[in-house]
Amino acid sequence: MAIDVRPSGQVCGATVTGPDLSQPLDDATIAEIRSAWLEHHVLAFPQQRLTDDDLERFTLAFGPFGDDPFIAPIDGRDHVIAIQRTADETAPLFAENWHTDWSFQEHPPAGTCLYGITIPPTGGDTLFADQHAALDAMPDELRERLEGRRAIHSARGGYAPSGMYGDADSATDRSMSIRPSAEAEATQLHPIVRDHPETGRPGLFGCIGYVIGIDGLDGDAERELLGEWYAWQTRDDFRYRHEWEADMLVMWDNRSVLHRATGGYDGHDRLLHRTTIGASS
Ligand code: SIN
Repeated sequence: MAIDVRPSGQVCGATVTGPDLSQPLDDATIAEIRSAWLEHHVLAFPQQRLTDDDLERFTLAFGPFGDDPFIAPIDGRDHVIAIQRTADETAPLFAENWHTDWSFQEHPPAGTCLYGITIPPTGGDTLFADQHAALDAMPDELRERLEGRRAIHSARGGYAPSGMYGDADSATDRSMSIRPSAEAEATQLHPIVRDHPETGRPGLFGCIGYVIGIDGLDGDAERELLGEWYAWQTRDDFRYRHEWEADMLVMWDNRSVLHRATGGYDGHDRLLHRTTIGASS
């Protein structure tokens, strides 16, 4: 089946129409979608009426399921989590900091699929930042200081008992099933500048959301470089703002983009189902 790919007109992102994702896809269609995903990094499929079975089948067309720590799956599923907020919820917004999903893992996920079920009439956009574009435009002086260095990634700031979603958060009215754990204290090194594992295109990997330091640096030198890296990689020029609709599936490439949630929908429920595409190697 031919697919139609319409670029967003922003730095990355495209809308895909044509395939019916509630049906199994043939190999040629999967290959076309993969190619568009690698080119545009964020794909939106509007007007798709999907069950959780459909969402899981779509995810598995692009890799194995990834491992989702610290968030309980929804009832009856092992690989679907709910990104959810009720109209009157007062807990801090989930995922409001820029991040790359689960970058603290040894083999971070290739991608994420997020399906819009209940979408507020205003607000709740997801922002993406294209990390190939950010590297391409980076001043040589900053690039030279980052190239060859490895960042120290950890989930501790979020999911350790002392973290943002830790023990103190469990006293809030958060509707998401977050499971903090001492395992979040673990650390993992990844190169800051690295080639995309499938396309070979160089980009920046990771961000202060899960990055707690730079290997081999400390004190002011580490803080300054982390700050300059973050300020550059999240600049407006590298951003795509995604506006949601109900029945829309979005898949993004965690190896190419950062993302973050936004608020602005107090008084309205928001519910999306999320799966993770694991690394294929
Ligand atoms: C996420 O990081 O998975 C959530 C993004 C969003 O809620 O917009």
